[in-house]
Amino acid sequence: MAIFVTGGAGFIGSEFVRQWVRRYPSQLIINFDKLTYAGNLENLSPVENHPAYRMVRGDVAEPEDVRAALPEDCDAIVHFAAESHVDRSILSAAEFVRTNVLGTQVLLDAAREKRVRRFLYISTDEVGGSIPPGQYFREDSPLAPSSPYAASKAAAEHLVRAAAHTFGLDAVITRTSNNYGPYQFPEKLIPLAIANIRRGKPVPVYGDGLQVRDWIHVSDNCRALMLVLEHGKPGATYHIGGGHELPNLELLRLLLKIMDAPGSLLTHVKDRLGHDRRYAVDWSRIRNELGWTPEIALEEGLRSTVAWYDSHSDWVERATSGEYRTYYERVYGMQYAQRQN
Ligand code: NAD
Ligand code: DAU
Repeated sequence: MAIFVTGGAGFIGSEFVRQWVRRYPSQLIINFDKLTYAGNLENLSPVENHPAYRMVRGDVAEPEDVRAALPEDCDAIVHFAAESHVDRSILSAAEFVRTNVLGTQVLLDAAREKRVRRFLYISTDEVGGSIPPGQYFREDSPLAPSSPYAASKAAAEHLVRAAAHTFGLDAVITRTSNNYGPYQFPEKLIPLAIANIRRGKPVPVYGDGLQVRDWIHVSDNCRALMLVLEHGKPGATYHIGGGHELPNLELLRLLLKIMDAPGSLLTHVKDRLGHDRRYAVDWSRIRNELGWTPEIALEEGLRSTVAWYDSHSDWVERATSGEYRTYYERVYGMQYAQRQN
C-alpha cells in the first residue's frame, strides 16, 4: 500500500502524516509539497527518518512535478495542498486560483493516468458561506462561498465531483470546520493570539468579534479523515465538526483565562472585508455512518495547545522569523528555492 499526500508540510497535513506513520509504519507515504511560506518541514521532524516516509518537493499546479512523483497504482491521493489563509486571498487571489483550482485539476488528471484507487479532497466548511443562526450547512446544501479562498475551494470541489461523475474516479470530499492545535502557522487566530498574549502584545479582534466559528482539534480531524479515506462511500461528501461553536470574542476570553492574561489585550481592529458571520456544519452523517465523534473538548484542547506553544517557543520563533525556511537546506542539503527533482 502507498499513499500520496499533498501539502503534508502544512498544519493539518503534517498531523495526518504523523498519525499515519504511527498507525501504518510499514506503508509507504509520500509527502508532495511545494514548501511555500506555510510548509514547514520541522513539523515532520518526528517522522523524517522513518523508512516508510518520503518527501518530494513539487508544485501541484505543475503536471510534470506531479507525474514524476506519483507512483503507478497508488492506493490514494489525500489532497491537502492549498493556499489556506482567507486574509491573503483578499489581498491577492491569483495564487489561490492557481494552487487550489488548477492544482486540483492537475492531480485529478494524474490520478486517472496513474490509476490511483481513491482521491480524498480536503475541503472546508467555508464553501457553504455564512450560515444564519439556527441553521446548519449540510452535505447536500448549495455552495455559496464568499471569500476568494472559499470560492477557490468550492471550484475545486466541483472539479472533483466532475471527475467522479465523468470518469468514474473514486473520490470523496470532506469539509471540516476551524482546526486548532500544535504546528499551526502563527497567522491564524489561535496561534497568533497565543504568541501575542505571551509577549504581552495586543490581540487583534476583527470588527465586533461576534463572528461564530466551530473549533475542532486537528488530531480529531485527522482521525475523521482516515476513517473517510478507508470507509467513506465513493462519491460522498462528509462534514467534520468539532461541536464547539462560539463567537471569536468568547474564544479569545477563554484563551486569556487559560493563559492568565488581562482582557485589555483584546483590541478591536477594522473588520475583514466580506467577513462571514457564522459557519456551522451538520456533521451527523459521519457520526451515523462511520461512528466518528470528536474526543477533545475545547477547553482541554486549548490548554494542551497553549502548553505545546509554550514548550516550542523555538518553533514559534523560527516560524515567525522565517528561519524555518532554512530547514530544507540543513536536512536535505539543498537550497530552499531549488526543486528536489
Ligand atoms: P497550511 O496553509 O498550513 O498548509 C498548506 C500546505 O500546502 C503547505 O505545506 C504548503 O507548502 C502546501 N502548498 C501550498 N501550495 C502548494 C502547491 N502549489 N503545491 C504543493 N504544495 C503546496 O494549510 P492547513 O491549514 O493545513 O490546511 C490544509 C487543507 O485543509 C487545505 O486544503 C485547507 O483548505 C483545508 N482546511 C483547513 C482548515 C483549517 O482550519 N486550517 C479547515 C478546513 C479545511
Ligand atoms: O472554517 C475553516 C477555515 O478556517 C479553513 O478553511 C481555513 O483554511 C482556515 O484558515 C480557517 O479560516 P478562518 O478565516 O475562519 O480562520 P482565521 O484563523 O483566519 O480566523 C478565525 C476567525 O477569527 C475569523 O472570524 C477571523 C477572526 N480573526 C482572525 C485573525 C487572524 C480575528 O478576529 N483576528 C485575527 O487576527
